[in-house]
Amino acid sequence: MRVYCATSNPGKLREFRLAGAAHGIEVEPVPGLADIPAPHETGNTFEENAVLKAEYYSRFVDGWVLADDSGLEVDALGGAPGVHSARFAALDTGAPGNSGDAENNAKLLALLADVPGPRRTARFRCVLALTEVTASGAGATKLFEGVCEGRLGLAPQGRAGFGYDPLFFPTGSERSFAQLGQAEKNEISHRARALAGLRHFLQVPPPPHRPPGRPGWPRRKGGVSRRTA
Ligand code: IMP
Repeated sequence: MRVYCATSNPGKLREFRLAGAAHGIEVEPVPGLADIPAPHETGNTFEENAVLKAEYYSRFVDGWVLADDSGLEVDALGGAPGVHSARFAALDTGAPGNSGDAENNAKLLALLADVPGPRRTARFRCVLALTEVTASGAGATKLFEGVCEGRLGLAPQGRAGFGYDPLFFPTGSERSFAQLGQAEKNEISHRARALAGLRHFLQVPPPPHRPPGRPGWPRRKGGVSRRTA
């Protein structure tokens, strides 16, 4: 099945596509996304922002629309940057738009300069909002959450991924998200965990074992269940 994703963040879209493919879900960007003015993310929580985006973009989609809001919560900073993760550095300067990953990471490291290893606990949180648009309009929006616990390093490590990946060490790993690489990150990430809930809701079975040399997934039989939350 196909889900239209409302994100212009290439790192997130890449992860959604890979994680979706592992669950038999084809993730495509909302058609014409680049030409649609982005909504203001005025919510105080990931849930509010995810719903706001899904309902906004549902005006431009026929079928399933998926929006997400995600970010990093650092315990020593009282849960910051949280919903401000994308423009954490810009909160100080008032610069418009999102901040660069390097600026955000530098600010985080500076704020945590005196925080010792055991207290550098943090988590990534992702909330997905899914809305189905049919001829009779948009249905109720359903939410799915995924969390990945970890701790923050003393310096960036690794070059893969995006955002705070070089600073984030998932619990039990000596490698940062940026050192793990996409496939390993997708097994444990907040986004992949939220997508697993979505897959369960849509009743999309995991892909069957595919013998080498036979590309393409078999299509699932029957329609998607039309449940709403
Ligand atoms: P938004 O959900 O687009 O508002 O922004 C989320 C921000 O959180 C991103 O721009 C990143 O800075 C950060 N973030 C979310 N997920 C990840 C991740 O998987 N790795 C690194 N940073 C992330």
